[in-house]
Amino acid sequence: MLEVTDLVKVYPTGTRALNGVSLTVDEPKVIAIIGPSGAGKSTLIRCINRLVEPTSGKILLDGVDIASLGRRELRKFRRRLGMIFQEYNLVERLTVMENVLSGRLGYVSFWQAYRRRYPPDDIRMAFQLLDRVGLSGYENTRADALSGGQRQRVGIARALMQQPDLLLVDEPTASLDPKTSRQIMRLLVELAHERGTPALVNIHDVGLAQSFTDRVVGLADGRIVFDGPVDRVTAQVLTDIYGEEDWSTTIREVEDEEEEREEAGVSRSKPPAREKKDEVTLGVAEGE
Ligand SMILES: Nc1ncnc2c1ncn2[C@@H]1O[C@H](COP(=O)(O)OP(=O)(O)OP(=O)(O)O)[C@@H](O)[C@H]1O
Ligand SMILES: [Mg+2]
Repeated sequence: MLEVTDLVKVYPTGTRALNGVSLTVDEPKVIAIIGPSGAGKSTLIRCINRLVEPTSGKILLDGVDIASLGRRELRKFRRRLGMIFQEYNLVERLTVMENVLSGRLGYVSFWQAYRRRYPPDDIRMAFQLLDRVGLSGYENTRADALSGGQRQRVGIARALMQQPDLLLVDEPTASLDPKTSRQIMRLLVELAHERGTPALVNIHDVGLAQSFTDRVVGLADGRIVFDGPVDRVTAQVLTDIYGEEDWSTTIREVEDEEEEREEAGVSRSKPPAREKKDEVTLGVAEGE
């Protein structure tokens, strides 16, 4: 799927944001990218969709070298990458439905989009996705009338409208309260698993990363200092990534959560479908 080799990014200012990053994603799993501020997490994601031009190195998606694509090829290629952002990047004055449909922009013609004439299949898919993210009934609500959690649900639905091969997610919960953050992470991970779409998720909250993702990549100073399954993230690993700190509470919380889940008979990777959906819908009904 995705193969990043020896990726280097030196900004014009001289900052070496990525210093030889190599990373392989060959399973449809959710990968948390953690690391201190300035470690290069956003730069890595932006190099993959070429919002930032890599200085050197290779980025292959299904064998295609992203770094070598011309402008036209790049436009076409970007359809395959679903982006989800911290600040949602919705068009505020458009409705929820229009925002979600804009995920198809890479597929429909300019004139179709201009006249807002989307194919019926696209509209059907948008309704289904809105239902799945818990926003059924909000189709005609303007984006600027939504809460942060609801906006991020729209952002997730819009990204999935593209039917992407890879999801790139930059701090999806950084503007949300803790409970909404968990709901959004849970939804994101469930959808990625359901659809078999791998996801790279930049995230500051180590607890969230440990609770919901499959694999953790730790960046520090533009280098990968850890790459492994989530249950191997120990206090020592966190010290390697972030520096010296007392990590005991962070680690213990996660272990407690795991126990809680096991007691409830819920496995981390695949919670039962019904329960998930009810929870998501409830979250919205409470008025996030
Ligand atoms: N456009 C830019 N021009 C110059 N330097 C940049 C640019 N963008 C990022 N940097 C620098 O590159 C380094 C890595 O930044 P990046 O935004 O990738 O870090 P990050 O891990 O995403 O941090 P955060 O957790 O704060 O979002 C930082 O030193 C940052 O100041
Ligand atoms: Mg960042």
